[in-house]
Amino acid sequence: MLLFTYYGHSAFALNDGHSKLLFDPFFTGNPSAATAAEVITCNYILVSHGHADHLGDAAEIAARTGATVIGTPEILEACHAAHGHGMNIGGRAKFAFGSVYMAPALHSSGTPGLLACGFLVEIGGKNIYYAGDTALFSDMKLLAERCRIDCAVLPIGDNYTMGIEDAAKAAELLQPEHIIPVHYNTWPVIEADPEKFKTITEENTSARVHILQPGEALDFDAL
Ligand code: NI
Ligand code: MN
Repeated sequence: MLLFTYYGHSAFALNDGHSKLLFDPFFTGNPSAATAAEVITCNYILVSHGHADHLGDAAEIAARTGATVIGTPEILEACHAAHGHGMNIGGRAKFAFGSVYMAPALHSSGTPGLLACGFLVEIGGKNIYYAGDTALFSDMKLLAERCRIDCAVLPIGDNYTMGIEDAAKAAELLQPEHIIPVHYNTWPVIEADPEKFKTITEENTSARVHILQPGEALDFDAL
């Protein structure tokens, strides 16, 4: 099984029935948060970069749950993680659930000297690409050459990341089977219409776009 749960903004979880991976756990101060940092459970926390809307509550959740934090060494330091797995861009590591490839992202980091990243995660027999915060970049097509991407989680909110048109172009490069848009409508500055993104992307690619509300889950086995 593989269940995707959206928590609002860029926070989401992947659960294969054994391991729960929590991505960019921004709950405290997140106007669209579907749950609270104090109650969330997970086995792993993956943090794409140090901006507050991604690093979020990672340190508190790691301390309370004992979850293993996966990120750059600088992110592990920022989380004061008791259990951490440091990686860097271009590296792949194996875990109990599968593997993680740390992908590049074109974005600032929130910490001097640190690079933002994305993650290509193999879990539950699927390959899930989370772009993190990023601009469109042509090397996305190299990610598509690494493996079939079952689902791409892409920011569409513009201003800080790709907007709708660039995210639709990213879909052409990545050729995923499914796409979940994130990082939009949390604040007025990243207002975007996910239906417009869905229309453009489904016209130009064979991907299916799934628009999730915070708190909503998607079961990959049911697709
Ligand atoms: Ni950012
Ligand atoms: Mn962000």
